[in-house]
Parts: sequence; structure tokens; C-alpha cells
Amino acid sequence: MAHVWPIGGGKGGSGKSFITSSLGRLSAELGKKTLIIDLDLGAANLHTLVGVPEPKKGFSDFIRKKIPLLQDTVVETPSENLYLISGAHDNFDVANLPYEQKLKTLRAIAKLDFDRILLDLGAGTSFNTLDFFLISQNGIFITTPEPTSVENVYRLIRSIYFRRIRYCFNITDFKEMETEADRQFGEGSYNKPDCLMKVIARTDPEKYLQLKNEFSAFRFKLIINQVRKHDNISLGLQMSRMVEKHLGLNMEFLGNVAYDDHVHDAICQQVSFMERYPYTKTASDLRELGKHIVESVGKQLTLHYM
Ligand SMILES: Nc1ncnc2c1ncn2[C@@H]1O[C@H](COP(=O)(O)OP(=O)(O)OP(=O)(O)O)[C@@H](O)[C@H]1O
Ligand SMILES: [Mg+2]
Repeated sequence: MAHVWPIGGGKGGSGKSFITSSLGRLSAELGKKTLIIDLDLGAANLHTLVGVPEPKKGFSDFIRKKIPLLQDTVVETPSENLYLISGAHDNFDVANLPYEQKLKTLRAIAKLDFDRILLDLGAGTSFNTLDFFLISQNGIFITTPEPTSVENVYRLIRSIYFRRIRYCFNITDFKEMETEADRQFGEGSYNKPDCLMKVIARTDPEKYLQLKNEFSAFRFKLIINQVRKHDNISLGLQMSRMVEKHLGLNMEFLGNVAYDDHVHDAICQQVSFMERYPYTKTASDLRELGKHIVESVGKQLTLHYM
């Protein structure tokens, strides 16, 4: 089974697509047959970043059943070993894919024959994004050093956490647990993961253990992008400690990627940044991250709801 790396972040413009395309390219260069999938439905633009001007087919053809097999929506890119499923074939915008279609998509992704699959996810906390994060232990979060972006990533991680808990219970039981959390720990506690987990531990020890095991198996990663000279370079480590402390989730800080105006230039010229500006600090930062994607052999989650 391929290693799936969902890549997301709470805020638009943090560099998810730029990082996905760069890491995809690096992984391909390092010999892995790599697929990048544009799942930013409604705002798809990953094709442009990898030099595929007009994708002839894409993810929407699979959803609309025009192309029955997801693997048949894959297109080549100008880079050897790097393939794309575009999201921008037609005007297709589904903020939340219907449940059945999402399951179908998740299953189809899991079966694709590639060494590495990177998913470029939309900003925010739509159910699509949360569910695509839950198909792998290797979710990568991208943020800039700005507090607004950091806040959004933290919110996204919390939403993923809650979404996973939510899958364990039917709506009535879940609501009861939320009420119980408020009753035991004060108003608003339903929204605090540790309080909710304490209630689950008491009311349903079996599910509590299952969730605890699953949460401890997550190996989330964090990348801080667009880091400028005077930014706090320890922010990534501080964030991963926060997530561990408050959510009990592992989040490894993979590294900073320097801000460079040449990124803008490369995108405007529709050329690969890595190829045009290989000797910049940003390119060298990305190469370090690329090695991680190639060398890491983390396990995939078995989908509880598939
Ligand atoms: N390391 C960087 N240095 C300088 N500029 C950058 C860097 N990374 C990204 N950018 C700039 O940020 C812009 C947004 O990047 P990108 O499209 O990858 O973000 P995104 O998170 O995918 O946004 P969206 O949520 O809209 O899909 C790029 O057009 C580029 O100009
Ligand atoms: Mg994007």
C-alpha cells in the first residue's frame, strides 16, 4: 500500500500547494513513484504548480462516474516519476462530499499503486479535509509564523481529533457525553478534548482505549513556511509541544522553509522553483523535508469507518 501524506493547514495562502508540489517533485527525483492529488475542491490549482497547463481529466470525472477507476484519472507531469490527479478539470465544487462518495474516494486512494501519495487539501476545517487527514497517520500541517495561521492549524488539529471521537458514537450518545463533560467540568468543557476523553473513559472504557491507542499512533508533522529572518525559529517546536500537552497527540516539527520572493517569480513564470532556484535557502530547506518523505516508512491507519 502506498504511503499517503495528507497536507493541509487552517489558513489559505500558507503554502500548502507550493509545498505539496515541491515535496512531490523531490520525492520523484529521489526515485519514488509519486502521485500528488489536488483535493482542494473548488479552488484547485496544483496542476499549474507542476507545469500541467490544461488537465484533460481529473478527480471530478471519478466523482461524476465518467471515469470509473480513480487510477484512470492520473495524468503525467513534465517531471519523471511524478504524476497528478488534478482537481481542476471542470467547475466542480463540493465543499463536503457526500459520505458515500467520500468513502469511495478514500478506498480508491488506498488502492492506488504509487510509492508516495501526497494530498493537497483545502484550507479550513471542512469535513472533507478532516476525513482525508484521518486516512493516514502522517498528516502534515503547514503554517506560516503568523499567529492567525498558527491559530488555524491548532483549530484544524482539534477538529480532526473531535471528528475521530465523533465517529465512535452515534449522535445521541455523543451529545450525552458533551452534556456530561459540561456538567462535570464546567460550561464549555464539551469543547475541551481532555474533558471529553475523561467522560468517555468512564462511560465507555473500551472505546476510550481504542481512541487512546489510535491517537497515540498518529505521527502528525508540522512545517513552518515563509519564515523570514526575524521570525521565531523555535515556533515549530513550541507548537508541537503545545499539541502534545493539550491533545496528547504526537506532532513532529519537520522544519522551517525560508521565505523567498523567487517563489512568487517561479509561480508567475510557471516554472519549477526547485529547478530554477536550486541554490536558495528555501530550496535547501525543501530538500531536507523531501528526504523525510522518502525515508519515512510510517504505518497507515486502518480506516475505522471504511
Ligand atoms: N516559502 C515561500 N516564500 C515566499 N512565498 C511563498 C512561499 N510559499 C508560498 N509562497 C507564496 O504564497 C502563495 C500561496 O501559496 P500556495 O498557493 O501554495 O498556498 P495554499 O496554502 O495552497 O493556498 P490556498 O489555501 O489558497 O490553496 C504563493 O503564490 C507564493 O507566492
Ligand atoms: Mg492551495
